[in-house]
Amino acid sequence: MKAFVLRSYGPPDVLDLRDVGKPVPGDDEVLVRVRATSVQPYDWHLMRGEPYVARLMAGGPGLRRPDIRVLGADMAGQVEAVGRDVTEFSPGDEVFAMLRQGGFAEYVCVREAELAPKPGNLSFEQAAAVPLAACTALLGLRDEGRIQQGQRVLVNGASGGVGTFAVQIAKAFGAEVTGVCGPRNVDLVRSIGADEVVDYAKEDFTRKGRRYDLLLDIAGSRPVSACRRALTREGTYVVVGGPGGRWLQPVGHVFSALAVAPFVSQRIRLANVVRCKRTKPNLLTLTELIEDGKVVPVIDRCYPFEEIPAAIGYVEEGHAAGKVVIAL
Ligand SMILES: NC(=O)c1ccc[n+]([C@@H]2O[C@H](COP(=O)([O-])OP(=O)(O)OC[C@H]3O[C@@H](n4cnc5c(N)ncnc54)[C@H](OP(=O)(O)O)[C@@H]3O)[C@@H](O)[C@H]2O)c1
Repeated sequence: MKAFVLRSYGPPDVLDLRDVGKPVPGDDEVLVRVRATSVQPYDWHLMRGEPYVARLMAGGPGLRRPDIRVLGADMAGQVEAVGRDVTEFSPGDEVFAMLRQGGFAEYVCVREAELAPKPGNLSFEQAAAVPLAACTALLGLRDEGRIQQGQRVLVNGASGGVGTFAVQIAKAFGAEVTGVCGPRNVDLVRSIGADEVVDYAKEDFTRKGRRYDLLLDIAGSRPVSACRRALTREGTYVVVGGPGGRWLQPVGHVFSALAVAPFVSQRIRLANVVRCKRTKPNLLTLTELIEDGKVVPVIDRCYPFEEIPAAIGYVEEGHAAGKVVIAL
């Protein structure tokens, strides 16, 4: 089968399209023919091995060379074969999953415990947009943020892959939502349900004098101390992402948030989807929201499989409006 193999750390041309062996499913695994995958900042962080500080951390991507050979954290596809202990899926079933790695290939093996039926009302491309980004938004709002109906919620970075899901999920939980985005995406963020949109080129949400119960910080564009000004006294700040950087960021932003947590009245939490163990139940919850029409994936661009390096280059620019997906 064909797969993009990561040769070394570096820019998108370190990804080689090669013939590699087709994986064989273990007893509790399902072999899926990948029909679509998606690209996110997670891929280029792993591709470049940046920030460098992450290479030194436990569970990091590898000190000198990447440990991961095939990137690609999301997948939607069709079951090709199942291991002998698999009971829930059969060949031909349409499925999706958050893989963390391996999605930039024609086939992938997924544990049955991590695979979910594809939402019936989505194409493969739309379904591949969901797993990592929407699970992050759900984790940040519901689990770490403890979102409640009627709360005032601010989503900083509302127009990107995670943000477009976060705005819709927060609305589905009955919150009053403010989205922060750039000038090109104000209409987009309003169209997906935000009650108020702040254009960061015109206004600084931390200086508007409004206070929110929950701030989901995806962009990490303002210092944590400034963000806390925009929270109620008992409000919750959930850090998801931060500014880009080669050496430290966004890790520095995350640490600066967590470092003040014990000393302030506000709750400060980190959403880390890669460490989340409840991926399958979360995909099933998202499927309900999607099939009820409360959440619709926003797709900026769809690239063919051969153009995965170009798609990663586009996501690296940092201004995708929704998700960037790959069709196989
Ligand atoms: N913790 C986790 O588990 C987890 C999971 C997924 C992602 N992340 C992190 O979350 C971040 C975003 O991921 P993503 O997939 O949503 O990325 P994305 O699709 O590339 O979106 C990034 C968005 O950031 C917005 N943005 C840029 N500058 C901004 C500013 N000054 N103020 C507000 N928004 C700004 C852009 O909006 P405009 O184009 O409108 O400027 C763009 O839509 C990344 O740092 C990523 O690594 C963390």
